[in-house]
Amino acid sequence: MNKSIDYIKEKIKNQPEIGIVLGSGLGDFADAIEDKVEIPYTEIPGFPVSTVKGHDGKLIFGHINSKEVCVMKGRIHYYEGYDIKEVVYPIEVLAGLGIKTIILTNAAGGVNTDFEPADLMIITDHINLMGKNPLIGPNDEDLGPRFPDMTDLYNKELVEIAENSAKKLGIDIKEGVYMYFTGPSYETAAEVRMARILGADAVGMSTVPEAIIARHRGLKILGISTITNMSTGILDTPLDHTEVVEVGKEVAGKFKELLKEIIEEI
Ligand code: HPA
Repeated sequence: MNKSIDYIKEKIKNQPEIGIVLGSGLGDFADAIEDKVEIPYTEIPGFPVSTVKGHDGKLIFGHINSKEVCVMKGRIHYYEGYDIKEVVYPIEVLAGLGIKTIILTNAAGGVNTDFEPADLMIITDHINLMGKNPLIGPNDEDLGPRFPDMTDLYNKELVEIAENSAKKLGIDIKEGVYMYFTGPSYETAAEVRMARILGADAVGMSTVPEAIIARHRGLKILGISTITNMSTGILDTPLDHTEVVEVGKEVAGKFKELLKEIIEEI
């Protein structure tokens, strides 16, 4: 961990305050960063490398207006074959660099039938259906508590900032509970029905392990999903990853404006 952190510290000009993890198809947001310092994951000692199509694999440091940020372009997914500890490694590195807030974004399937593809959803809570937890194993009390509390995991003030930012920009924004499936197969129609009955509004294959580790490290968390498709069984059409990336690109404009506004207000 320290070798990754030390390597990065040597390269960057300023300490980041806000970390941003970009989901599938949302990578264009990185264009909003000024005075960029880009560090490919492959260069960072100890850093796992993402393999999924549509994910680039680099940390981008710089500022957006007056806020120092670090953007993770390309996240590490459990379904790629990594250990759950590797999945959250980059978040631990960002916490080690001193960020205070993390914005986790993702592409998700809409379970709530009031949603439509290309909607944005503020994550108000999550359900960890995976059964695995990145904190399993010995705990370092210097980094965080053995049994972290999960009350208001997704920070209420940040939810409010996101709501107000969307309102200001005239963007209709949804809110809801994100349920985590490991993937890489999409859910079955029965699993989607189960997700709805259990209180989920969207399903996806990321974010939850990252949110758990971020809470352990005491970071404030904001989660935003792009509803790239309706989940299996809601419509007749089969799901296709290309469509997920395409809808991600379609919403890239409003997503970028919203995120910039939120960062300004944090
Ligand atoms: N299910 C899981 N993950 C996803 C989906 C989905 O329907 N869409 C985008 N990511």
